[in-house]
Amino acid sequence: MTRILTRSEVAGLVTMADAVEAVEEAFGAMVRGESQMPSKVYLSMADLDGDFRAMPARRGEFASLKWVNAHPHNPERYGLPAVLASLILNDARKASTLAVMDATRITALRTGAAAAVATKHCLAGEVPASLGIVGAGVQGKLLIEAHRVIYPNITVVVADLDTARATALASEFGGRTGTLEAACACTVVCTATPARRPVVQLEHLGPDCRHINAMGADAPNKQEIAGAVLKSAWLIVDSREQATHSGEVNVPLHDGLLTAADIAGDIGQVVAGHLKRPPTARLSLFDSTGLAIQDLALAERALARAEANNIGLLVDLHA
Ligand SMILES: NC(=O)c1ccc[n+]([C@@H]2O[C@H](COP(=O)([O-])OP(=O)(O)OC[C@H]3O[C@@H](n4cnc5c(N)ncnc54)[C@H](O)[C@@H]3O)[C@@H](O)[C@H]2O)c1
Repeated sequence: MTRILTRSEVAGLVTMADAVEAVEEAFGAMVRGESQMPSKVYLSMADLDGDFRAMPARRGEFASLKWVNAHPHNPERYGLPAVLASLILNDARKASTLAVMDATRITALRTGAAAAVATKHCLAGEVPASLGIVGAGVQGKLLIEAHRVIYPNITVVVADLDTARATALASEFGGRTGTLEAACACTVVCTATPARRPVVQLEHLGPDCRHINAMGADAPNKQEIAGAVLKSAWLIVDSREQATHSGEVNVPLHDGLLTAADIAGDIGQVVAGHLKRPPTARLSLFDSTGLAIQDLALAERALARAEANNIGLLVDLHA
C-alpha cells in the first residue's frame, strides 16, 4: 500500500531539529559513497515565468523523486505559494511506492538546515555571536530557525528591501531590523533573495563576518554575492555539478571571474572531516543549490513517523 501524506500531515511529522540531524547525516553519507544522486533536471518555462525541477536520489533501501517548482508570481496571480513540491518515496529493492507526500515543508526545512549545518562545519568549532539575514521571506525565517537549533543564543539582524517584512521577521526572533551593512556585519550572513544581480559586495562585509551561506541562487543566471566576495572566501559548494550550473558561482564562472580551482570542495567533505577550513581563511562561503538527498533523508523520517502513528491515507496505487 502507498501512504499519501498532505502538507499539514508532513508538517506535523518532522521538525527543524530533525532536518538539521537528517541533513548533516545525508551530507556525510554522500562522501562515504552511500548515496546516488544525479543532478537535478530543469524544465524552464520562460513564457509562464516558472520552472519545474526533477530531483532523484537513492540511499540504501530508499529511493525518491521530488518534483518541485519555482513560480514567483503564484501568490499575486493565483493565491498559491511560489513553491509547491511533491515527493514519491520508493522501496529501492522492489520499486514499490511507499509514499506520495507533499514536500513543500520538507523543502523549506532542509534548506534552512543545510545552511546551519554548513555554518557549524565551516566555522570548525567557532561559536558565532550573530546572524545576519538578507531577505526576510520564507527562507529567511527558516534560516533563523535552523541556526537557533544549533546556536540557541545567536542574535539576529534582518535586512530586506521591504522594511516591514524585515521588522516582522526580526521581532519574531527577538532580533532587530538593519541595513544591508548591519546584516553583513554579523558573524554569519545568510542571503535568501531571488536576486539576479549581486546584492552583497565586499565593502558591505564587516570585519567580524566569518561565514556566508548563499542560499538564494538556485537556478542559472541567479546571483546574490559579488564575484570579489566569492574570490576572497574559502568556497564550499553542496554539489560541484549543480553549483556550477545553477548555484551562486554559476554566473562568475561563466563570466570568467572564477575558475573551477577557486572551489575548495563540497560540504560533504567538510562534514566528514576530509576537508578543513584553512587557518588563514578569514571568510568561508557555502553555495547551496539544494540536494535531492536532503529531501530523501527527511522524507524517510516523515514516513517512519507516519507509519508509527498511523498518519495519512493508504491507497493501493498500482492496483
Ligand atoms: N538553495 C536552496 O536550496 C533553495 C531552496 C529554496 C529556495 N531557494 C531560493 O531562495 C530565494 C528566496 O526564497 P524565498 O522562498 O524565501 O522567497 P520570498 O519571496 O519568500 O522572499 C524573498 C525576500 O527577499 C527580499 N529581497 C528581494 N531582493 C532583495 C534585495 N536586493 N535585498 C534585500 N532583500 C531582497 C524580498 O523583499 C523578500 O522579502 C529564492 O531565490 C529561491 O529560489 C533556494
